[in-house]
Amino acid sequence: MTAPNGDGGAPTVDLSLMEPVFEKYAGQPGALIPILQKAQDIYNYLPPEVLQRIAERLGLALSKVYGVATFYAQFYLERRGRHVLKLCDGTACHVKGTPALLTAIQEEYGIRPGETTPDGELTVEVVYCIGSCALAPATILDGQVMGHMRPTKLLQRLKRQMGDTSCAKERAHAGKGQGDRDESTP
Ligand code: FES
Repeated sequence: MTAPNGDGGAPTVDLSLMEPVFEKYAGQPGALIPILQKAQDIYNYLPPEVLQRIAERLGLALSKVYGVATFYAQFYLERRGRHVLKLCDGTACHVKGTPALLTAIQEEYGIRPGETTPDGELTVEVVYCIGSCALAPATILDGQVMGHMRPTKLLQRLKRQMGDTSCAKERAHAGKGQGDRDESTP
C-alpha cells in the first residue's frame, strides 16, 4: 500500500508488506515473476522502491528486475487506481462514440488515458478491440464489460461503482466495535 507522506509530496511505500512475500519465496532464485505478481497485488503497481528491494533481496541487478517488469504487459510501473476503466478505441468503438466517452471522463475527473486521479481512485486506459464490437462502444470497468456506452450512463456507472466501494469501506469501518451487524438487512 502507498500512503500520503503528510506534506503533500509523493506517497510513501510501505516496504514491510513485502516481507511475507520474501519469506514465502525464500531460497527460490527463479521466483522473480511470482514475486513481482505478489508485489503488484499488494501495491496495485510496481513502485521503484519495491523493485529496488526485490533486486536486493534476490541478489539481482536492478536492471534485470526492470527488464522483466517492463517485458510483460501484466506489470504496471505507473500507479493505478483502485478502479480501472478501459475504453475500447478500436475502429467500431471509435466510430460509435469512444471519443465522447474520453471527453466526458476528462471533464469529470481531469484524467486522460494512462492517468490516475490524484486520490488514487480511478485509472483510465485505452485498449484496441476487446472482441465485443457488437457492443460498441465497449468499456470495461473493474473487469466487467459494459456495452453501448454513453457519456451520461458511463459517469453514472462510475459513480455507483466508486460509491459502492467507499460505502462498503465505511460500513466495514463503522462495524468495528459494534459486532458484525449486517446493515443490508432491515
Ligand atoms: S472495436 Fe471495440 S470491441 Fe471491437
